[in-house]
Amino acid sequence: MSEFQNITPTLISEYADSHTSDLPTILQELERETCVKCINPRMLSGKLQGQFLNFICRMMKPKNILEIGTFTGYSALSMVYGMPEKSHLYTIEANPEQEEIIRKYIKKSGFSEQITLIIADAKTEISKFENDFFELIFLDADKINYPLYYELLMPKLKKGGMLIADNTLWSGAVVSKTSTDKEVVALQTFNDLVQNDSQTQNLLLPFRDGLMCVMRLS
Ligand SMILES: C[S@@+](CC[C@H](N)C(=O)[O-])C[C@H]1O[C@@H](n2cnc3c(N)ncnc32)[C@H](O)[C@@H]1O
Repeated sequence: MSEFQNITPTLISEYADSHTSDLPTILQELERETCVKCINPRMLSGKLQGQFLNFICRMMKPKNILEIGTFTGYSALSMVYGMPEKSHLYTIEANPEQEEIIRKYIKKSGFSEQITLIIADAKTEISKFENDFFELIFLDADKINYPLYYELLMPKLKKGGMLIADNTLWSGAVVSKTSTDKEVVALQTFNDLVQNDSQTQNLLLPFRDGLMCVMRLS
C-alpha cells in the first residue's frame, strides 16, 4: 500500500492554498458574504486564482483592464490590488441582482475611482470600447458565447497584451470527441479558434478549471 494513496486533489488544492499569500482581508469578507447571499458561490475565483490574477497585474502593469463577468467582484478586486496606481479596470456584469454587493465592496476597497462597473450584456457593450485599448482582458462569463467573445475582444487587446479566459477545460469535458453539450462545444470551438490564430501565442494552463492565456503578437 502506497503511503501517498490518500492524497486527493482536494488535499493538494488545500495545500497550495495554505502556501499562497493571502489577498487583502476584504476579499475574505467578500467570499464569506458571497457564500451566504448568492445562489452559486462556486463561481467566485477564490484565493489561488485571485492571487494568480494579482501576480499577472503586478508583472504586466496594465493601464487598462477589462473583465467580462464580474459576479460579486472577487476577481476584479484581486486584479485592482495588483495594478498600477493610475490604471483603470472596467468590469461588465449582466445580472443586476449582483450590483449592490459589487458596489459595496468596490467602495470598501477604496478603489471607486479606478473601477467602472457596467451592468449590461457584455455582448453589446464590448464594441463601445476603442480598438487596441486593453493590456489585459479577463473573460469569465457565459461559456456558450466564448467564440463570439473571442471575435469581439481580440481587436480591443493591445499588441503584447493578454486575454485570459477561465473555465476552458470545463472539468475536463473539452477532451470529449462526441459531446453535443452546447457549452462543451462552445469551449472546444473557442480553444480551437485560439490555437489556430496565427496572430497569437497561447498557453492553456491546467489550473483550476483551465485558464487559456492568449498573448496578441501583432
Ligand atoms: C463565473 S461568474 C464570474 C466570476 C468572477 N469573475 C469571479 O471570479 O468572482 C460569471 C458571471 O458572468 C455573468 N454573465 C453571464 N453572461 C453575461 C453577459 N452576457 N454579459 C455580462 N456578464 C455575464 C454572470 O451573471 C456571472 O455573474
